[in-house]
Amino acid sequence: MDYKNLFDFKGKKVLVTGGTGTLGAEFACAFAECGADVVISGRDLQRAEEVLKRCRPYGNTYEFIKCDLSDVSMTAEMVKQTSVVLGGIDILCNHAGFSIRKPASECTEEDWDKLIGIDLKAPFFTACEAAKIMKENKWGRIINTASVSSARGHKNLSIYASAKGGISQMTKVLANEWAEEDITVNAVAPGYVPSAQTSDLIKDEMKKKELLAKIPLGRFGKPEEIAAAILFLASPGGSYITGQTIYIEGGRLID
Ligand SMILES: NC(=O)c1ccc[n+]([C@@H]2O[C@H](COP(=O)([O-])OP(=O)(O)OC[C@H]3O[C@@H](n4cnc5c(N)ncnc54)[C@H](O)[C@@H]3O)[C@@H](O)[C@H]2O)c1
Repeated sequence: MDYKNLFDFKGKKVLVTGGTGTLGAEFACAFAECGADVVISGRDLQRAEEVLKRCRPYGNTYEFIKCDLSDVSMTAEMVKQTSVVLGGIDILCNHAGFSIRKPASECTEEDWDKLIGIDLKAPFFTACEAAKIMKENKWGRIINTASVSSARGHKNLSIYASAKGGISQMTKVLANEWAEEDITVNAVAPGYVPSAQTSDLIKDEMKKKELLAKIPLGRFGKPEEIAAAILFLASPGGSYITGQTIYIEGGRLID
């Protein structure tokens, strides 16, 4: 193993869904810095331009594909377009998502369909479409986005926890089904990382103090700390890891 150059992704073709979000943008830029060609998908053209601007100095191919994942039929088109733009797909970061915070008894069927649609159904179909392309090369790396909610029953997150628990289980099955083609499937499960998704929660000082008290490392995570784990899983260093959910949460789940 070339330990010194583990994160050399020159020639690799990467699709990051949710690539215009806080974490997704960091993943895209991390792969760009390591030499990969990158497509980000998302809904916000202006935000996409900012991410592409951060990537461009690294000198490879970077494109934005607009795609609203609430219409799951769009996943096939997004993957197809990515493959045309990059000439294939080697690595998929299946990252788009959002959460709904309310007591279970107040959740509506519409909440359920929307959240499960974007956080579980879309990643499933995106992975299946990308795997078709990866199978042709007999190599691929799929990294889904789970959460500490995959493993815990935090109040007011019933639908989100259902989706993220589903992501962890889905990750195992897809890893098992596609291992023969050297496609590894893993998930990263971040703890609290300040982002658009968590900003409302964190700006409440009392709530923030309460959350920090439960994190042994005593601080929130940083986008780059999640990105580094993704790079590792996609690198030769991660080639014997599959079906796993890797918790990156400052020790939040220790007790
Ligand atoms: N930030 C955290 O603390 C944290 C913790 C655990 C898991 N996560 C997971 O990370 C991902 C969110 O990342 P973030 O924290 O950077 O939040 P974010 O809100 O900044 O990014 C979310 C991204 O998902 C995209 N997205 C949402 N709905 C979409 C749709 N219908 N179609 C296409 N794209 C859509 C958004 O456009 C955005 O780019 C989610 O999967 C979330 O569950 C985040």
